[in-house]
Amino acid sequence: MAAGLMSMGYAGAASGSAASLAPSYLPKKDRYARLTSNENPFGPSPSAKKALKAAIDDSFLYPREYRQTLIELIAKEEGVSEDHILLGAGSSELLHAAARVYGGAKGKVLSADPTYTSLIRSAEMMGSEWIKIPLDKNFDHDLSTMEYKVKPGVSLVYLVNPNNPTGKIMTGEEIIGFCNTVSSKVPVFVDEAYWDYMENPKGSTTTACIKEGANVIVARTFSKVHAFAGLRVGYCIAQPEVIKELAKEGPRNTLSGPSMSAATASLVDYDFIKYSVKMNNEGKKFVYDVLEKTGHDYFPSHTNFILFPIAMDYADFKKKMLDNGVGIKSMNVGGQDYCRVSMGKMEDLEMFAGAFQKVIGTTINKS
Ligand SMILES: Cc1ncc(COP(=O)(O)O)c(C=O)c1O
Repeated sequence: MAAGLMSMGYAGAASGSAASLAPSYLPKKDRYARLTSNENPFGPSPSAKKALKAAIDDSFLYPREYRQTLIELIAKEEGVSEDHILLGAGSSELLHAAARVYGGAKGKVLSADPTYTSLIRSAEMMGSEWIKIPLDKNFDHDLSTMEYKVKPGVSLVYLVNPNNPTGKIMTGEEIIGFCNTVSSKVPVFVDEAYWDYMENPKGSTTTACIKEGANVIVARTFSKVHAFAGLRVGYCIAQPEVIKELAKEGPRNTLSGPSMSAATASLVDYDFIKYSVKMNNEGKKFVYDVLEKTGHDYFPSHTNFILFPIAMDYADFKKKMLDNGVGIKSMNVGGQDYCRVSMGKMEDLEMFAGAFQKVIGTTINKS
């Protein structure tokens, strides 16, 4: 399979120079391994790039038809009518729209902690309160406490599945059960940015609840498996009356024709999706091996990043990795320091492995 895909031209999918994307304050290095932001260096797919280029000539037109075609295709793929879909320039725009609709001065957003905080920060900026429910000792969502804490006044529950920064999942059964119960009291927003990397995406998505009429909002992005982080395309699926509310507060024709045309091609490029997932799995296997051989625990990941505990101050660790040309994210949760490393091309992961051994002062015995 891989050889076939390689010969289809996927191997050279990303031609941009990662070195040129290094933070400007870094000393000039030959190569910078950008493993900070959960991007996918194996794309965009050749089919997406072809559609992108072909649409450039139409750039003088308002992109109505491109939008309509993409919405029709998403609706067909998701098995809902078109009025259940709202497009955004990346899912960030839709997270922000939800913060405007459900946040505000009287808003209370309930979520796990730690999780992805873009929606929460937007809501806080508008005066909302964040009700944080710590992940349990295994770093899983504490769904029973979350459900118990949904009291009058909570205006939105926000779930990220798989979660960022842990890479862990709630199973379809757990999250669908939670959404069906809780959404009768308060809207539940489920951010499925890393959905495509799950083993059973179709059995894990909460769009099933939306189809049954529940007040659930699902956000998806093209930034991850489709490798569109710079092209900015996302969408959400929700009840038509919710879509209308989000549209009032949210994106107004912010997506370009070429981006939407490329997304239309990429959405149904199932071979490319498989290829991206496969390359990501190979990267994870490599990093797991490095972590095991250096005596580190890690959270097996259902995403394109891995979180693992480190025995060093997180800020110091990040700086030392950067000094060795490797960008990662690091954090402290409950007194424990962690590194979150995004998957990249094998040469980036090899740089990570080299820098990591240097920084922690351990060398893997290759024999
Ligand atoms: C959970 C989660 N949601 C949303 C986003 C934002 O993605 P987008 O590029 O679609 O704005 C990210 C980006 O890393 C993410 O991790």
